[in-house]
Amino acid sequence: MEFSIKQSNPENQRSACLVFGVFEGGQLSPAAHQLDLATHHQLSDLIARGDVTGKAGNTVMLQTLSGAPAERVLLVGLGKKEEFKEKQFIDAVRTTCVTLHKTICKDAVLYFTDLPVKARDESWKINQIILLSAESIYRADELKSKPADKHSLRKMILGCDKKPGSTAQHALTQACAVAHGMKLAKDLSNLPGNICTPTYLAEQAKKMGEDHKFKVTVLEEKDMEKLGMHSLLSVSRGSRQPAKLITLEYRGADKKQKPVVLVGKGLTFDSGGISLKPGAEMDEMKYDMCGAASVFGTMLAIAEMELKLNVVAVIPSSENMPDGAASKPGDIVKSMAGLTIEILNTDAEGRLILCDALTYAARFEPDTVVDIATLTGACVIALGGVASGLFSNQDQLACELAAAGDYTNDKAWHMPLWDEYQTQLDSNFADMQNIGGRAAGSVTAACFLSRFTKDYRWAHLDIAGTAWKSGKEKGATGRPVPLLTQYLVNRANTEK
Ligand code: BES
Ligand code: MN
Ligand code: ZN
Repeated sequence: MEFSIKQSNPENQRSACLVFGVFEGGQLSPAAHQLDLATHHQLSDLIARGDVTGKAGNTVMLQTLSGAPAERVLLVGLGKKEEFKEKQFIDAVRTTCVTLHKTICKDAVLYFTDLPVKARDESWKINQIILLSAESIYRADELKSKPADKHSLRKMILGCDKKPGSTAQHALTQACAVAHGMKLAKDLSNLPGNICTPTYLAEQAKKMGEDHKFKVTVLEEKDMEKLGMHSLLSVSRGSRQPAKLITLEYRGADKKQKPVVLVGKGLTFDSGGISLKPGAEMDEMKYDMCGAASVFGTMLAIAEMELKLNVVAVIPSSENMPDGAASKPGDIVKSMAGLTIEILNTDAEGRLILCDALTYAARFEPDTVVDIATLTGACVIALGGVASGLFSNQDQLACELAAAGDYTNDKAWHMPLWDEYQTQLDSNFADMQNIGGRAAGSVTAACFLSRFTKDYRWAHLDIAGTAWKSGKEKGATGRPVPLLTQYLVNRANTEK
């Protein structure tokens, strides 16, 4: 879809459809009010008649409006004006997209940037409209022999009362970059495990490197062996697919600036290994590489933005399968950091590949390291699909990430990483065990990682609940590309 922003008087605007908001009780948005005045109160008449209620979710499509050149006018209910906040704005945009996609409209002009959302500026509204619209047209039909019917909508114009300034234009291009990053993340995540293998991810990284001038390196199992990554390699032992450690380097700032390193869990299929998972919904474990996919997506977004910041992506990628060579419960392995790990459950494999990747990340002399992983079912129980779990060894970093999530509505909630939880990882035979029991499962997983991140500022995002949706709407969400990109944009702005 093509997006643009321009000054537009609704009474003169040609389009397949103009879209306006109406508050409950019949109060028109400023742009709708302007159109109402220019068309002899036809809109207020509809409100008076009771057709247009302004209740949240209420939509009325007018097939003509005499006196206006547009072919259609869509009125979208916004709910009560005093309750109109982020969520209500987002719901109104979603409703608009659903309604437009049921029509044959090829283009539409949305007059939403003047809607009063408390504490949110025009850039925020532009960002949300673009991300939500891009989301609404996404289809994972690459592998269907007949692709699903495409939407008619090709062009979306954001109509403003004055000429949009450079801030608004900038917000639009930035949002488009994030939308592209989310699409890439979703495309990779939705691919099945038989196509999206560690080797496939490595090939994608190389392609991205050619297109966007990243320096790409792929470590093979023999290289990892030499580095002593026995924890990571213990996970791929049971699989016929060789593990890969992929790095992408984006240098947008001075060489001397220490990079932000993003580490993404790239488990292309998690069967659980010898600690085999139950059969129901096991297919969803193809999504166990969503952390890696979000890192790819974020790298694409910042490259398109030409962000002035140094960012390195580190992606440990493997399958977790049971076979004769697979790790067994009770096995003890030595990590690259030299710490020994008793593997009590082969299904707690994410931390086993991440710990070596986190040790490896230190080579880039990072300013900050953020890992992103579909790490624990316990996080899904704690926070559901609304917020990602956020853990950090530095409160300020946690605050910065949480703020980026709040702004983009890609929320993350700060969880504790207190020492009291660490003892749950005590092992009788090794430096630690890889599970900490049922209690506080997402916290003990983060505690495990924290033992490998002592030398730098670090945060961990557990995206097990937020990276994809189950059920009828099954599919990747592209999260947390918006959070990560926003965090990096904020960083680039403060480094200036
Ligand atoms: N990839 C899973 C985590 C997961 C589970 C993500 C469900 C999304 C939905 C991870 O590798 C795993 O299996 N974790 C175990 C850890 C346990 C054995 C300590 C879990 O959460 O059950
Ligand atoms: Mn697992
Ligand atoms: Zn896993």
